[in-house]
Amino acid sequence: MNHAIHTEPDAESLAAYARDWLVELIGARHAASDSAKFSLALSGGSTPKRLYQLLAQLPAGSVNWQRVLLVWGDERNVPADHADSNFRMVKENLLEHIDIPEENILAVPDPGGQPRSVAEHYEKLLRDRFEATSSGFPALDCVLLGMGEDVHTASLFPNTTALQETHRWFVENHVPQLNTWRLTLTAPLINQATDVAFLLSGSGKQQALEKLWHAPYQPELYPSQLIRPTTGRLSFLVDKAAVENVTIPVECR
Ligand code: 6PG
Repeated sequence: MNHAIHTEPDAESLAAYARDWLVELIGARHAASDSAKFSLALSGGSTPKRLYQLLAQLPAGSVNWQRVLLVWGDERNVPADHADSNFRMVKENLLEHIDIPEENILAVPDPGGQPRSVAEHYEKLLRDRFEATSSGFPALDCVLLGMGEDVHTASLFPNTTALQETHRWFVENHVPQLNTWRLTLTAPLINQATDVAFLLSGSGKQQALEKLWHAPYQPELYPSQLIRPTTGRLSFLVDKAAVENVTIPVECR
């Protein structure tokens, strides 16, 4: 597995770097084929908001959104117009500002209902749009991830059932520590991606990175440790505050 780390001075320059990194990735994929669409799984939370805003502010034509498929890496099980909805966050900061066909926006249908049926509905939608490889999972072009202070990523939280999933693509996950249901891509699906990138900003990420990189392998406790792309590239796009006082792992140097 190849790792890459890129450190920017601050949150704003990190968002700009991540924008340019993504634009280049999408452009390269489009250039390599006449018709291939770039499949991008979006992260929720607050960190990627600025990235989405900067993508939205690009001059028309910088990204051929007609050939980009957007997937949600995880979702809160709330209606799409709820303040906590990742779809709503992406809609307000990106979708409303770019020329992307409706059919390219693969959002979780009818979130907020019975968690298992919402998850199954989304998995069916994903299976209708993406071919599985011999692994049994689709190889998305890029999965963007954040990470919480408890080393969760997407909605793969410590000591939750989704961490054990080995067959399903997208699952409901009860998170007792938040007393809520979440919906998430599973680790085996994320690990089939060509590029997986953690976008991490701020000193609040230092402890989690320390555990991710240097604690013994205990994914039940540190779920982000599950993220080990099978053949793809794992990138850490971080700002200085996130890695200050953290030893960069050898494989990232
Ligand atoms: C979510 C995210 C979640 C997020 C981390 C970090 O739905 O909240 O998918 O995994 O990436 O909690 O969140 P921040 O970017 O807000 O620190």
